[in-house]
Amino acid sequence: MQVRAKLVAANWKMNGSRADNERWLSTFCAASPRCQTVVCPPYVYLPQVLQGLAGTRTEVGAQNLCALAAGAWTGEVAAEMLVDVGASWVIVGHSERRSAYGETDEIVATKLERALAAGLRPIVCVGETLEQREQGQSQQIVVAQLDALLRRCGVAQLARGAVAYEPIWAIGTGRTATPQQAQQMHEAIRARLAAADAVSAAATRLLYGGSVKPANAAELFTQPDIDGGLIGGASLVAADFLAICEAAAR
Ligand code: PGA
Repeated sequence: MQVRAKLVAANWKMNGSRADNERWLSTFCAASPRCQTVVCPPYVYLPQVLQGLAGTRTEVGAQNLCALAAGAWTGEVAAEMLVDVGASWVIVGHSERRSAYGETDEIVATKLERALAAGLRPIVCVGETLEQREQGQSQQIVVAQLDALLRRCGVAQLARGAVAYEPIWAIGTGRTATPQQAQQMHEAIRARLAAADAVSAAATRLLYGGSVKPANAAELFTQPDIDGGLIGGASLVAADFLAICEAAAR
């Protein structure tokens, strides 16, 4: 059986301040997480977080990127700029961007291509709404989201980063998918990837996201196809994020 190193990523979303980030970094850096970790602050704090984590094994990512090449696009940030400032990862297609900013499967796939072309490691997100789950369409929806990505890039490229399954009904709601619900979907995702490229599928990290907390992380991370997590709310508290990393390392 393939052994995949656990990966835990912090998605701070639109939270933080220079002072809060300083406190977070000093708590976080006093410990050394025993699994691979990535921190994704808002764009403007990338330099501060990169500096704060310099010399540690924790890497830094952005939460988004522009689907277009650098140029006259007011307010946007290009993949190459993220690389230029020192980011090595980027979250692509988070459900908040899909729903609030109109990112379609095609836009997400284009962003994925841009990220890969620039040498960034993508954490690409998929997940269904509550309504879709209640109608029994979860797998169909998630597989369609994956297929849109696979039409543009190979599984080996996805394996450079990770795929995050984030059921929308579990994000920021305190309502976590059960380990069984999450495992079932992760298994379906891996099967879909394996149908395209079995070797790369076995090497691709599949992260679970949606109300992961220190109290539920260990049980989620013991599922065979859950290779870590994408952590929102709980990642804002350094001690909680560290506890989740520790659960992944065990
Ligand atoms: P949450 O967010 O942990 O606050 O539910 C996860 C995410 O949206 O990445």
